[in-house]
Amino acid sequence: MPTSIETSFIDNDALMLRAVGIGKTFTLHGQGGVQIDALAGVSLDVQRGECVVLVGPSGAGKSTFLRCLYGNYLASTGTIAIRDDAQQARHLSITGAEPRDVLHLRRGVVGYVSQFLRVIPRVSTLDLVAEPLLSRGVDADEAHARAAALLARLNVPERLWPLAPATFSGGEQQRVNIARGLIAGHPVLLLDEPTASLDAENRDIVADLIVEARERGAAIVGIFHDEDTRAKVATRRLELTPPLRRTTALH
Ligand SMILES: Nc1ncnc2c1ncn2[C@@H]1O[C@H](COP(=O)(O)OP(=O)(O)OP(=O)(O)O)[C@@H](O)[C@H]1O
Ligand SMILES: [Mg+2]
Repeated sequence: MPTSIETSFIDNDALMLRAVGIGKTFTLHGQGGVQIDALAGVSLDVQRGECVVLVGPSGAGKSTFLRCLYGNYLASTGTIAIRDDAQQARHLSITGAEPRDVLHLRRGVVGYVSQFLRVIPRVSTLDLVAEPLLSRGVDADEAHARAAALLARLNVPERLWPLAPATFSGGEQQRVNIARGLIAGHPVLLLDEPTASLDAENRDIVADLIVEARERGAAIVGIFHDEDTRAKVATRRLELTPPLRRTTALH
């Protein structure tokens, strides 16, 4: 008999994330209420030090699943719970959480790196990367020093650090995005093709950073378009298959 979410977090100190029976149906209101089943019945436990790589064909629902885990999409079915070590609370349910609890989880617990950087106009690269540390109360000098070290490791040229990344190349923006996503050492990391626009050398550097995060105990769920990176970072794979696609018009 499956244990309840409550019991599983109390019984297992290493459990960071539990998703049970996650489904997502989109309703396209602008297009006659057509419904698209993107995801059906996906369950996943992730423990500290694990990197679960999502695999499956394009359209299988990999990105949709990650967005549900981050609380960007509200799952249509199922429950998602994430351990919150900082609070006395044992875990928080993303699926039933108030917006302020979701924001709290994102600040302290769950980091998300998407394929594209959401550029904030006029904010320098160095400030953008240091910001997750500053918002967690790290001293400004230390935050900037750590941001500089990570940008250097990711081969982002120093002359770019004072500039806003709006004009950067795709690969430069992606490395800034990765630096921002990894700098705070979130205990749970969700990575959606973070290496898609990188050359082989920078892809390897990112893979090393992901392995380091895993080895310090982060629980990671990721999507990677190339097999080399998957092989380096994965401790396990979860295959998603497109649900028997019911695409129904309501009338
Ligand atoms: N916001 C949305 N509104 C409507 N349909 C969506 C939305 N997001 C995703 N979908 C649909 O859900 C399905 C799964 O998409 P998703 O982006 O999760 O696939 P994926 O496995 O990440 O694919 P890829 O490997 O191409 O990135 C697709 O059919 C897509 O059209
Ligand atoms: Mg995707």
